[in-house]
Formats: sequence, C-alpha cells, structure tokens
Amino acid sequence: MAVATEPAALTLRFTEEHLALQQAVRNFAQKEIVPIAAEFDESGEFPLDTVRKMGAMGLMGIEVPEEYGGAGLDTLAYVLTMIEIAKADASHSTIVSVNNSLYAHGLMKFGTEDQKRRFLTPVASGEKIGAYSLTEPMSGSDAGTMQSRAVLNEAGTHYIINGRKSWVTSGPVADFVVLFTMTEPEKHHKGITAFLIDATRPGFIRGKKEPKLGIRASATSELVFENYLCPVEDVLGKPGDGFKIAMTVLDAGRIGIAAQALGIAEAAYEASVAYARQRQAFGSPIGSFQMIQAKIADMKTRIEASRQLIYNAVLAKERSKLTGERYTLEASIAKLFASETAMFVTHAAVQIHGGMGYSKELPVERYFRDAKITEIYEGTSEIQRLVIARHELGLR
Ligand code: CAA
Repeated sequence: MAVATEPAALTLRFTEEHLALQQAVRNFAQKEIVPIAAEFDESGEFPLDTVRKMGAMGLMGIEVPEEYGGAGLDTLAYVLTMIEIAKADASHSTIVSVNNSLYAHGLMKFGTEDQKRRFLTPVASGEKIGAYSLTEPMSGSDAGTMQSRAVLNEAGTHYIINGRKSWVTSGPVADFVVLFTMTEPEKHHKGITAFLIDATRPGFIRGKKEPKLGIRASATSELVFENYLCPVEDVLGKPGDGFKIAMTVLDAGRIGIAAQALGIAEAAYEASVAYARQRQAFGSPIGSFQMIQAKIADMKTRIEASRQLIYNAVLAKERSKLTGERYTLEASIAKLFASETAMFVTHAAVQIHGGMGYSKELPVERYFRDAKITEIYEGTSEIQRLVIARHELGLR
C-alpha cells in the first residue's frame, strides 16, 4: 500500500511484502489446512494446532503494530490473508477474522495503553484467542435493544454484569472477549458500554455450543454472565460509547467477511473449471457446452467484481487512517456483493459437479454450506442494503 500524504492520492499498490505474504499464506493454507478441513468440518472440533501455527506466522494480529505483538501490516495484507485462508477452509478464516477485526481492531482504536498491553498483545501474537460479543437471543440486527445489564457497584470500582449473549464466534475457546452490554437502558443505544472480559474471572460461563450448517470448525456459543465483576479500568472507550464502538468495529469486520466470501467463491470456481474440463458427457468435456460456459462466465465476472469492491473498501479504510472518516458504505457494499457472489458461485459449483457436488467426497458441498454464513453474520444482506440505502438517501 502506497501511503500518500494526501488521502485522495492514495492508491492500491501491491508491494514485494504483500506478494511474499500472499505466497507464504497460500503455501501454508494449501499444505496444512486443506488436508484437515473435511475432517474438522465433520467433527466440529476447533483446529487449535493450525490456529497456533497461524499465530506464529503473525496472522492473528496482521494490522496490529509489532510493539503490541502483531505483524504491523496493512488492510491489504489482511484481505490477502483472509482470501487465501478462506480458499482452504472458511472455518479457519472465521477464526482469523474475529481475532483480527472484531477483537484486535477495537482494542487498537479505542484501547488505553494499559489495555493494549494486557488484552491486545497476547491475542495479536496468537498466544490467546479473542472474541466479540454483541448479539443476544432477542437482539440481532436490532443491536441497540439488548437485555444484558452492567451496573456500577457502590464503591465505583467494578461493574456487575449479568445476562446472556449468543452466537459468539470463538466463544467456547476465547480467553478475552469484547462485550457490549447495557449500562443505562433508558438511553437505548447511547446507554451501551463496551467491556474487556477476562474468561478466567468468576461469573463468566460458556453456554450452549451452536450446531451449525457451515463453518463447523469455528466454535460458536452462548456466553452467560452471572454477577461477573469487571474492573472500571477494563471499560473499552467511555461508558455509553459501546454502540458506536460496536459499529466501527463491524465496518472493519465486514471487509474481512467480504474477503472470506471471495476466498470461498474462488475455491468453488477453480474446482468447477477443473471439473468442467475433465468431466465428459455426450462424448465431450462438459465445459464445451454453452450452459456450463454461461455459468463459468457469470461466476468469474462476479468474483472479479467482488475483488474490485473489496479493494475499494481496503482503500477507503486506509484513507480513513489519514482522515478519520468512516468507510461504512464501502465496507457494506463489498460485504453485500461478495457474500451474495459466494452463494451464487457455490450454488453454481454444486450444479456443475452434479451428483459429485452433492457428495462429501469433494469439498464443493462444504463451500456451499460455508458460503451461507457470509450473508448472515456481521450484518445480514438486508442490513447491508439498509446501511447503503440510508447513506444514499441521507436517512438515519
Ligand atoms: N460507525 C460509527 N458510528 C455508527 C455507525 C458506524 N458504522 N453506524 C451507526 N453509527 C452511529 C450513528 O451515527 C448514530 O450515532 P448518534 O446517535 O450519535 O447520531 C448511532 O450509531 C445510532 O445509529 P442508527 O440510528 O443508524 O442505529 P440503528 O439502531 O438504526 O442501527 C444498524 C443501525 C445499521 C441497523 C445497526 O444496528 C447494525 O449494523 N445492525 C447489525 C448488527 C450486526 O451486524 N450484528 C452482527 C454481530 S457480530 C456477529 O455476527 C457475530 C460474530 O461473532 C461474527
């Protein structure tokens, strides 16, 4: 990434470092992740060994400065990593995405020096695992309506947290969690506060693990808080700033999910091209038939369009580092288009593979199942459309 002093002059540039990282991650993912992906998908077990190896490669804190345990790279490096990992296995890329975007990004942007030392460094270095907890059983898209509560104790030293959170990615294994909960319910979204939670403290309980359709090796669970005492110094940002922190972090997260969707789509597309060349029907490779060709052309076009929208969002995020301006629109557009592309491409890939696309002997059915979540988490496609339309119409 060329860092220009004028934000408008910023352009996307692949440096030697980006290309070397891309190659290293590709080699690692193809050699270490591809061979185990089907087995971990089947068992739903968390792939701790490969997660630790990704940590050792610096992939669990890509944009975190080296002084806080990260790799000190940029958003393009993050996106290139996400594409390669997702291409090998979407579950692994979900774990990378939550650590990097939903957890580390918030700490980098809003954490104090002390919080960065205690909560960011061990997670960015891959030694510990981070999670982000916003959703509740009755509060998903409408994130401002949560029922969990945090009340300051009489001494003013600790918040007492009670409530139930749901759909927490890496919840069953996380060491630390950025938790959003209500401190002043009468203020609605302005009454939400972000807390840094240490999973070893009393009152932190890991709840029901979710049995999922896809990304089955990325662990997802409820988290229950029963009189959990959070020291006031572990409030992230200011009390009442939680909703804005949650939304700011999701802007970064949505770029990662767009890259994940692109990685899944690329894997399904490459498998389809190879199959269309090799599989014979009516005396010819099926790729010689125009109905298959039309699918290949539409898959490729949407994949390349997704890539450009992701690069556009990367640039907007890098520009934001200079201007402080939001990149909500660019992130939502990239996530919306790339996730719907992943669904379109994996659906077509199953169809091109016919019976073999439906079989667990090939990874194509897994790509199809894994793609679906990209249209749901970190804001559904409906929420992305709402964000984009509100922006364009000047509505709130
Ligand atoms: N960045 C910074 N601030 C933002 C923001 C953003 N992207 N979006 C909104 N805000 C601010 C607004 O400026 C506004 O501030 P003021 O009150 O000071 O004016 C405030 O937040 C409220 O904004 P809205 O009135 O627009 O809020 P809303 O209640 O209408 O909600 C929404 C907007 C877009 C629907 C939002 O609630 C949303 O994105 N919902 C989806 C939540 C989501 O993505 N959940 C997934 C959770 S993570 C997950 O999937 C699990 C996992 O582990 C992977």
